[in-house]
Amino acid sequence: MANAIETRRLDVGYGGRQTAVKVLTGLDLSVAAGSFLSILGPSGCGKSTLLRVVADLLDPLGGSISVLGDTPHAVRSRRDVGFVFQDSTLLPWRTVRDNVRLPLNVGQGRLTRTIDDRTDELLDLMGLAGFGERLPHQLSGGQRQRVAIARALLGQPRLLLMDEPFGALDEITRDRLNDELLSLWRRTGATILFVTHSIAEAAYLGERVIVLAANPGRLARDLDMRPFKQAGNRCSREDPAIVAAMAELRGALEQAS
Ligand SMILES: Nc1ncnc2c1ncn2[C@@H]1O[C@H](COP(=O)(O)OP(=O)(O)O)[C@@H](O)[C@H]1O
Ligand SMILES: [Mg+2]
Repeated sequence: MANAIETRRLDVGYGGRQTAVKVLTGLDLSVAAGSFLSILGPSGCGKSTLLRVVADLLDPLGGSISVLGDTPHAVRSRRDVGFVFQDSTLLPWRTVRDNVRLPLNVGQGRLTRTIDDRTDELLDLMGLAGFGERLPHQLSGGQRQRVAIARALLGQPRLLLMDEPFGALDEITRDRLNDELLSLWRRTGATILFVTHSIAEAAYLGERVIVLAANPGRLARDLDMRPFKQAGNRCSREDPAIVAAMAELRGALEQAS
């Protein structure tokens, strides 16, 4: 399967089909399976709305969308999609471990052992070994986002949707999590859609960066980042090529705002 996501003439908005205000109009977007797509755009242009349609949290008003070759609903039912938001909604009264296990919501049975192992593995992977019995308020912001990522990864989703997941973190922590995310992406082969306000973050992470424009939301720029990077989407943040790509994205973003 070549494309993880394919939209054709996709219209999305809020309210009933008759009264709806369209947020995205006529969006044609194909996202290659296993790729890392960064999404930039002015506030309110519909970035979160786009992720919501992909995640089956919102029905389109028109056009078509296929996710992993299927309907968003089928993909969600199979737990093939993971979602991480800016403010990770951890349950404050549950331990880190229980927050990670939350989506599967299994208490008993044969699966428990596997889930336990998997939970430990993910906590380990996210640098949270030894934090399993802590409560969310005993963690830093960066650690809480790691828990949210571990939770999103529990079902081994083939598609990971991230909506400004590191927006509230300091720059050092954000850079570190960016690198962890890239290595995770390389190991899992998952498709990642990553919304961010940061041009630098979008350029560093994405194999491709799209810029959405507002009113109505539409594709304003579609930049292949591979020419600016080494093989395997590798680059250094100070690379002149990356800096040049960032300048190009900034121009597109200014035009779109
Ligand atoms: N639940 C909702 N009901 C009505 N309008 C909404 C809702 N959520 C978002 N919107 C509107 O849709 C537009 C796009 O929002 P959003 O996708 O959150 O933008 P972004 O994530 O790019 O900042 C905005 O104008 C916003 O006000
Ligand atoms: Mg948003």
